[in-house]
Amino acid sequence: MSPRTPSSPSQPSPHSPALLATHLRTGVVGALRTEDAGQEVTLTGWVHRRRDLGGLLFVDLRDRSGLLQVSFGPDWTDAASLASAHRLGAEDVIQVHGQVRLRPEDARNPELPTGEVELQARSLTVLNGAETPAIPVYRGPGDELPAEELRLRYRHLDLRRPELQQNLLLRHQLILATRNYFHGLGFVEVETPMLTKRTPEGARDYLVPSRVHPGEFYALPQSPQIYKQILMTAGFDRYIQIARCFRDEDLRADRQPEFTQIDLEAAFVGPDDILAWVEGLMAELARIAGIDAEPPFHRLTWAEAMDRYGSDRPDLRWELEIRDWSRVLGTADSAILRGAVDAGGRIRGFRLAGGASLSRRQVEEIEAAAKAAGAPGLLWAKRTAEGGSGPLSRWLDEGHWTALEAAEGDLFLVAAGPDRVTSPALSATREAAIRLLDLPRVRDHAWLWVLDFPLFEKEDGEMWANHHPFVLPHPDDADRLADDPLSVRGIAYDLVYNGSELGSGSLRIHDPAVQRKVLGLLGLDDDEIDRKFGFLLEALASGAPPHGGIALGMDRIVKDFLGAPSLRDVIAFPKTTAARALFEGAPSPVGSHELVELHLERRGRKAGDEAPPATDPEIPA
Ligand code: AMO
Repeated sequence: MSPRTPSSPSQPSPHSPALLATHLRTGVVGALRTEDAGQEVTLTGWVHRRRDLGGLLFVDLRDRSGLLQVSFGPDWTDAASLASAHRLGAEDVIQVHGQVRLRPEDARNPELPTGEVELQARSLTVLNGAETPAIPVYRGPGDELPAEELRLRYRHLDLRRPELQQNLLLRHQLILATRNYFHGLGFVEVETPMLTKRTPEGARDYLVPSRVHPGEFYALPQSPQIYKQILMTAGFDRYIQIARCFRDEDLRADRQPEFTQIDLEAAFVGPDDILAWVEGLMAELARIAGIDAEPPFHRLTWAEAMDRYGSDRPDLRWELEIRDWSRVLGTADSAILRGAVDAGGRIRGFRLAGGASLSRRQVEEIEAAAKAAGAPGLLWAKRTAEGGSGPLSRWLDEGHWTALEAAEGDLFLVAAGPDRVTSPALSATREAAIRLLDLPRVRDHAWLWVLDFPLFEKEDGEMWANHHPFVLPHPDDADRLADDPLSVRGIAYDLVYNGSELGSGSLRIHDPAVQRKVLGLLGLDDDEIDRKFGFLLEALASGAPPHGGIALGMDRIVKDFLGAPSLRDVIAFPKTTAARALFEGAPSPVGSHELVELHLERRGRKAGDEAPPATDPEIPA
């Protein structure tokens, strides 16, 4: 089954209509079917759409369960109610009482689950009127959604859209199932603090100034990482939390400054315990969302993933793999190719059967994608009846073509240089080629574990922790920590679904001496280590069990299961790509007296200045 799109709200409600009855209503609108004909019901909701046919009047009544046609007419509606029905406007909140009737054959609506019936209203009570909505909730066939900036500004109206309601309902079901699943495995939910000492996860912190301790700050947690490790040292064995995390980082469609993790940690485990638990969870969540997930999931080491796909989160819905042509093309009469190999790099690329049909502009588009990913250029050649064309072809003789196993109509896309440069470029090339050639998928749902990430990476001469500084070095590599740290792998694993990183975890260092060594390699001196991580080292020195865990991005799971374009489609009150909340207008300036109380001084804009306009030119990004 393919994932549902956000515009196909087919997720059944987990709540029975009877449960939703109150003293103002006997049930919900979306539940009524032909067998309910003849029943007397009282229903409540919003006026979704109104059609006035003079004598007769039809209202589509909407509540969270769906839509129902309500008809008003002089033969069955009392006069006062009929008069007020003629004055109804979009989004008025009403209560109607009457009888469920079968619609005449020719007036049935097969598009609507309730389309065989209608409610003949005897009486109408307007519970509350509505001003003309700033953005329409009702959309006719072919009507475009209002611009996203407007929808975020009027989020209370946008959230009335059945699509968004269904998305949030699915989210609720997945969170509930997650809690039940881990409860069934003996996990205990523990809440960790929001006002914390910072945990490094590679982003900037959101800081909260302390009023009572001048000049000191709490950090909002980037993740509960250190706390969950301390819970392990405290003997909590198996911990889970549906945890809110905060990261001040550059935002994209798959990143929000505030997001939710399914965060877990367990003691006395190996990686396979955690992988199996997560596979079981994903199978359960996927089942609820109507998606295929059959454990065990495919596994690749990080080195294999980079070698074969150029990415640590390849989308394996397509099988296209990188080939290594260093030997074949290293002999070509080209300074670029030879130079790359002589400098210790490789010549790698793709053979695309039928790719010669791409126009020059399309090939240039692929080249641009490779360049945007950091490559100086991309070489290409088409195998044609006459021989070959394209910049690479001038260096190829028949021997090369044969060694490349070239067939007429093939397109070769090649990058030469160190893997660190060519891998991201080839990953971007792969994505662009798949898109432009519209290559067929080999599967609709590609689940993958990427294992054994390097512990460190070096950027601009500085050492960084690849995941975070608490990852356990691979026992086979640990003796190289001091001499060749960049070659040391960690016992770390990422979960990838259709090319999207859903989760990331590792076994952790439980030996305080090793932890101190790793922090030292990251450039921290002993003083700094004690100041920033002394509490963790103390806990590790107090009898810490071997432990490990993982965190899965809840928002990403819901988004990817729905096939939604953005996390904003699965978060009730999301931020824009410029980290603004347009509806309530956050962030917003605070007055000088509050700043004084917090021992802060404003630089730049003065107290009482207007906030910058709440527009967000970056939204479409
Ligand atoms: P990591 O930083 O990889 O690991 O985060 C885990 C998962 O959280 C999701 N995620 C996000 N989702 C939305 N918006 C964001 N800005 C965002 N950042 C991350 C991703 C990601 O895979 N403490 C470690 C986990 C561990 O080692 O147990 C951690 O937080 O889906």
